Amino acid sequence: MVILGIETSCDETAAALVKDGTKILSNIVASSLSLHAKTGGIIPENAAREQLKFIIPVIEESFQKARLKENEIDAIAVTQGPGLIGSLLVGVETAKTLSYAWNKPLIPVNHLLGHIYANFLDTAILPEFPFIALIVSGGHTDLLYVKGHGQYEWLGGTRDDAAGEAFDKTARLLGLPYPGGPEIAKLAEKGNPKAFKLPRPMMEGKNYDFSFSGLKTAVSALVKNWGDSEERSQRVAAARSRARTHVEKPSWQDPNSIEDLAASIQEAIIEVLVAKTTRAARDREVEEIVLGGGVAANKLLRERMQKAFYGQVFAPKPSLATDNGAVIASTAHFLKEKAKNPKEQWKTLEANPNLHF
Ligand code: KG4
Ligand code: ZN
Repeated sequence: MVILGIETSCDETAAALVKDGTKILSNIVASSLSLHAKTGGIIPENAAREQLKFIIPVIEESFQKARLKENEIDAIAVTQGPGLIGSLLVGVETAKTLSYAWNKPLIPVNHLLGHIYANFLDTAILPEFPFIALIVSGGHTDLLYVKGHGQYEWLGGTRDDAAGEAFDKTARLLGLPYPGGPEIAKLAEKGNPKAFKLPRPMMEGKNYDFSFSGLKTAVSALVKNWGDSEERSQRVAAARSRARTHVEKPSWQDPNSIEDLAASIQEAIIEVLVAKTTRAARDREVEEIVLGGGVAANKLLRERMQKAFYGQVFAPKPSLATDNGAVIASTAHFLKEKAKNPKEQWKTLEANPNLHF
């Protein structure tokens, strides 16, 4: 069974063809990241306008790459939400039109579940139920107890900023480009994670909730003492160019080291994520933890989680951790029996920016 997956919830315009939920035939992602890097973040209007331009060429390319024709697919899957309304509309309306024109069933998909199903694609070993899933993306931080396909219990999530947002916002305070996660991770390789004491809110709490906004406040207070913005941007530029080479950070004790602060930020976020996720896994007595979302591309997070957990930790390939159409097609494949009226969705489906669990 081949499903076309369409994803436009945030800044990517993506389409993929996936066989039997696990085999990627094509996976095309057009990102407007360079556009957003210029503005330091996503401007929803700009994102949707770009997606409108790219959606048809991206879908066409997904068919060309897979060497398939539209009559050779079995269904269409599309991200219904959550996400930016203008962006979601581009994908949903395109999918509805194609479903009608090609006479193919349409399966709406919760984007967040897509991040979990990234672990079912192009892999020799599939996760086995039950497991604890940690979804960590730019907009979400959620812990789920997953008992089977479509059977899950939401355990908790962030009360304010998402984990990816914490990376993005603290990176911005340091003067680093968007998206901040990979930038901080790169600089952190040469930094001392113990250099700065940053808050780890709610880490010891009994619940499964998170809070990351205090981190932003703490970093903001720190960098205020780091000279004027010109001085700061020179430091950041020097640290970024060091990060691209084998040059070590200055050996002299620099109380304002960008690398040290990046490492301390990463450490604070990861420590909380690992503590809560492994506790949920112990409480529910599961043997597996499954990571998903853009932050799951973080190497240290994967390593730390595995080190702290007695069972197996799954994480998608970095290219599948961030938004793409293949994970949407895979989710639709595994949840197709639960999909409501796939033959009627071309008439009724509505984008839902606030879709949750
Ligand atoms: O899942 P995703 O592509 O989009 C959303 O649905 O939000 O996640 C994007 C987020 C951004 O916040 C980005 O900074 C973060 O994932 N990210 C990372 C890394 N790569 C991407 N965060 C930490 N370390 C990384 N290597
Ligand atoms: Zn996402």
